[in-house]
Amino acid sequence: MQTTIKNIETDLRNQVAQAATPKEVEDIRVAFLGKKGSITVLLSQMKDLSLEEKKTTGPLMQALRQTAEGLIEERKNYLINHAAQAAALKEQLFDVTVGLSKAQQGHLHPYTHIVEEIQQIFLSMGYEIWDGPEVETDFYNFGALNIPQDHPARDMYDTFWTDTPGNLLRTHTSTVQIRAMQERKPPIAGIAPGRTFRHEAVDASHDYQFMQCEGLFVDKHVTIGHLFATAQTFLKALFEKDTLDIRIRPGFFPFVEPGFEIDMRCVFCKTGCSVCKQSTWIEVFPGGMVHPNVLKAGGIDPTKYAGFAFGFGLTRLGMLKYGIDDIRLLYSGKLKFLEQF
Ligand code: DAH
Repeated sequence: MQTTIKNIETDLRNQVAQAATPKEVEDIRVAFLGKKGSITVLLSQMKDLSLEEKKTTGPLMQALRQTAEGLIEERKNYLINHAAQAAALKEQLFDVTVGLSKAQQGHLHPYTHIVEEIQQIFLSMGYEIWDGPEVETDFYNFGALNIPQDHPARDMYDTFWTDTPGNLLRTHTSTVQIRAMQERKPPIAGIAPGRTFRHEAVDASHDYQFMQCEGLFVDKHVTIGHLFATAQTFLKALFEKDTLDIRIRPGFFPFVEPGFEIDMRCVFCKTGCSVCKQSTWIEVFPGGMVHPNVLKAGGIDPTKYAGFAFGFGLTRLGMLKYGIDDIRLLYSGKLKFLEQF
């Protein structure tokens, strides 16, 4: 009997020590002190003992019951207090970084990327970067560029006129070449990336605002060869090609003579695709030798100096480079589109 008492006590101590919640302690109490609990059952067997045995084991059993009650009570109180303390501590010391959703990070707009790339390429060739006003005068947008009043070439540009007569939203960045010549003496080399505006019906490839990049080079002994080499060097760098064929066709622009359309070999295919309209050539780089009238309007003597100019669609090149097939996406502010860059 004494051994049974000892075993029960050992078992009880172990179980109580391992109990982790008040509920587990309660289960232990039921298992030992409940109606059918082992200690209760043992106590109920007392009556069957002899007087002698009652004398010796009786106090032991009572002691066991008291010990059990004490241990259980103590553990229960400890766990209840401990849980409250732990909860209080958790509130004080909560970890601010846990469970944070990924922070939204900003990034550059595709336009900014392409402008920066283009600027880098021309800066590496010794060009300056120029800026000019978006609201211009008739003189800078047309007159100085050898497009007089009533000249049919004005039809090429569907112009937004402002309420102030003679003022307009520039239809091309060629305006900046006049301003640059007026402010400098040759040799002159610079590009002017910027926004341009035309009264266009908007569709996947036309918008009423888009970006162009004008380029101008003026010095003594400048030839068409310099223009072609510049176009090829620039396009190779932009499209990251070691070799890139270009093709030259005549083109008419009143501010250059002769004028050209420079095409590059399609960078997406070898035999024809939808981008090059099955021709393997993409029209990208209009330019020519600056017309003597334009040099004069810029204050430069055309008998001493010559120059070449070009003005490519920066939006168009950006769309080609990044595979964007709808111009409307660029100013849409759509995050699904922008987040790809
Ligand atoms: N300004 C012309 C346009 O918007 C593009 C252009 C063509 C610019 C030839 C030039 C050039 O400087 O030489 O259509």
